[in-house]
Amino acid sequence: MDVINDYMRQWHASGLYPDKFICHQKHGNQFEIEEASTGQYHNVLTFCTNDVLGLAQHPAVKQAAIASIEQYGTSNSSCSVLSGRIDLHRQLEQEISAFKHLPHTHLFMNAWMALQALVDGFCHLAMPIPGFCHERETLILTDVLNHGCIISAVTNATNRSGKMFSHSPKVRVKAYRHCDMANLAQKLERHAKPGDRIIVISDAVFSMDGDIVPLPEMLDIMERYPGSLVVMDEAHASGAIGAKGGGIYEHFNITPQSVVDRGLVPIIMTTFSKFAGSAGAAISAPNRELIDLLDICPTSIGTISLPPPVTASALESIRQVRQYPEQVAKLQHNTRYLRSQLAKADFEAIGETNVIPVILPPELDPKSFARALMEEYKLWVSPIWFVAKPRLRITANALHTEAEIEQLVSGMVAVREKLFSPAVKVMA
Ligand SMILES: Cc1ncc(COP(=O)(O)O)c(C=O)c1O
Repeated sequence: MDVINDYMRQWHASGLYPDKFICHQKHGNQFEIEEASTGQYHNVLTFCTNDVLGLAQHPAVKQAAIASIEQYGTSNSSCSVLSGRIDLHRQLEQEISAFKHLPHTHLFMNAWMALQALVDGFCHLAMPIPGFCHERETLILTDVLNHGCIISAVTNATNRSGKMFSHSPKVRVKAYRHCDMANLAQKLERHAKPGDRIIVISDAVFSMDGDIVPLPEMLDIMERYPGSLVVMDEAHASGAIGAKGGGIYEHFNITPQSVVDRGLVPIIMTTFSKFAGSAGAAISAPNRELIDLLDICPTSIGTISLPPPVTASALESIRQVRQYPEQVAKLQHNTRYLRSQLAKADFEAIGETNVIPVILPPELDPKSFARALMEEYKLWVSPIWFVAKPRLRITANALHTEAEIEQLVSGMVAVREKLFSPAVKVMA
């Protein structure tokens, strides 16, 4: 434990360790939180929840979760392929398939499990079958700024089941520059060999930069490699982009079927922790075989199925989004309004979605900035100073009012004014 103890002491001494908070109450965007280290309470207006459509507190969604507990209890107490599958799972899979326009869907506990299962299952299949020989290598192309769950899944692709079944063919992973499709094309030309099974995988909306993958250009490139999988992680895209919140395909007015018609295999990962007021993830695909494989690969077999209230709240949330797309329109309006107010106040906000990263001048550190916003203006935003380049990470949601957005931006202006030292002001 010496290494851990020394390392953690150093973390705390450096001032880099994150401030942690415990939530006690939520009323819309008004949260009562306790600072874990001091026990101090704050009533704050939040701009850092991922509950972007406000569905986690929606009466119909809460009621669906309660009703599911009455019917099934709190857990399914088994994995899906043994005795843990309930009818709500089937309904949720059908609802996602309809929402994403891909006929087959399989559920997972979270995005990390879903992508691990997908990559593992695709590269290494499930278990040896007498008389079946698997020899084709896989080439995986991944954006350098992809979310950690993708990075984890692809870096582990070479040593999961592949190691267990030692005959499994090689997996090669190549990263391409962020959203740089010319670089993707170069990497494919350089590394794709005849017989390779190819996967390209990307965040649809990038979780730290709030920008959108250039899917049409990606498809043009991938079309040169028929049969390739095009995997979109829609964690921040579902419910947020596209006129009705359908995500990346709706945003670009493309259908997954048209991708199939071009000889490619569109795969979508949906997560429920952002737009759907719940937790969990799903992989949707055009073909039944891949989804059946995911159900029997080691990553699915060895774990509990999605609990009833989690499944029911995700299901009701997706129904709400499909029935009432006005909430999506409100989110998109709030995103535009917040971005315009930040621009007017001379803040540098990057990306184009409701994930709004604000890059501060180098003299201002995000952690002190966020702390001042909370203590002096009762505004809660996430400071990022590790995981990605320093920034404030602000999320707009559908419940914010214009007055609240103005309150945030004027608080940020006041904190910037206060934290800029006189020396910095003179130099400026
Ligand atoms: C792009 C992306 N993928 C996956 C995840 C993980 O999703 P979940 O926590 O719902 O499993 C996140 C979470 O922030 C994300 O931003």
